[in-house]
This record gives sequence, C-alpha cells and structure tokens, in this order.
Amino acid sequence: MSTWANLGLQDSASPLMEQLIFFHDHALLILVMITVLVGYLMFMLFFNSYINRFLLHGQLIEMIWTILPAIILLFIALPSLRLLYLLDEINEPSVTLKSIGHQWYWSYEYSDFNNVEFDSYMVPTNELENDGFRLLDVDNRIILPMNSQIRILVTAADVIHSWTIPALGVKVDGTPGRLNQTNFFINRPGLFYGQCSEICGANHSFMPIVIESVPVNNFIKWI
Ligand code: CUA
Repeated sequence: MSTWANLGLQDSASPLMEQLIFFHDHALLILVMITVLVGYLMFMLFFNSYINRFLLHGQLIEMIWTILPAIILLFIALPSLRLLYLLDEINEPSVTLKSIGHQWYWSYEYSDFNNVEFDSYMVPTNELENDGFRLLDVDNRIILPMNSQIRILVTAADVIHSWTIPALGVKVDGTPGRLNQTNFFINRPGLFYGQCSEICGANHSFMPIVIESVPVNNFIKWI
C-alpha cells in the first residue's frame, strides 16, 4: 500500500505491474532527455542575436528535427504496445473472481466454488481497530491464492465504478450491463489495498478493496 510521502508508484506485487514500472521509468527517461535538450536550446536562444545575412532556409536541419522526434516516439510506442497486449493476455486462470460495484460497496462471487459470495464494506473510522487503516480497510476481504493466475470479472449494479489495485497493476471499470475481464498473478503473500477510481457518487471515496494474498493451501482451506 501507499504510505506517507510516497509520490511514486507502489512496489509491484505482480509481474505485469513490474513491467508497467519499467515502462514508466523508460518513458520518464526519454522525457527528461527531451526536456533537458529543449531547455538547453531555449536558454541558448537568449544569447543569440539572430543576425545572419545569408540564412534563408535549412533543408537538412528541417529533415533532422522532423524525423528524429518520430523515431523517438517509436521508442515509446513499441514498448507501450507490447505491454498493452501483455496486459490483455488471459493465461488459463485457476481462479475466477466476480466483483460487482454498488453505491457504495463491492460484492464478490467465487463462482468456481459452490458460489461463495459476500459484500465488502469499508470499516467506518469510529469502528476501526487500532491496527486498521482509515478509509482503506474493509469488513470482508477478498482471499486469493498467491502464485496463481487469477481472472477478475468486473461489473456494476447501479453506476460505473472502477476496480483498482495499484500494486497489482489492475484497473477495470465496472459498467452496468457489461462484464469486463482482466487477469493478474500475485507473486507474494500480503494485503493489497485499492480504491474505486470512477467518480460514482457521494461516497465514491469510501468503497475500498482489500485483497488478502495467501498460499494456495490456505486458500483451499478457506474456500
Ligand atoms: Cu465506486 Cu467510485
């Protein structure tokens, strides 16, 4: 989860999130190089008197500064496309979890295992345990096995919600009348926190998501 003064991305808990972080750093590096170059050029313009009797055109420099940015953009576009298709891949999931957004709570269904289903509400501040996280903890956590491919089906019952877990690199809209699908692979045990990220009404901020990632044996015991 995100803690104080963490302005960057959270530590990844899935291979895809790791790739997303790599891509973010890659794109940022290119961005910094462009900013430094443009900054240097703009700074140097202050010391240019703009006097050149014979300068009318410059075909070569025009060619260079047209084609070079296009090539640089390719270096962002191709890894981005690779990641996009990687995120879309469904790798024979062993568990399917259905999550339904409501105003303002999530409900979950484990349809694979004699229809385990429950609602998951935020724990109000006045009922919070001493070790609880305010506005982030829920009464019923999602339990999922680690080191397994998990499929998530997201939908909503009233308005659009969004099922978002930053550490897993998952963000799927739950739309009434539609069933969206995504998948992920949790590579360590622990608690992973998320929040709804589609403005869905007065209590939009108060429908968090908590995943408890456990070893497969414990998951089977729980289910
Ligand atoms: Cu549900 Cu915002």
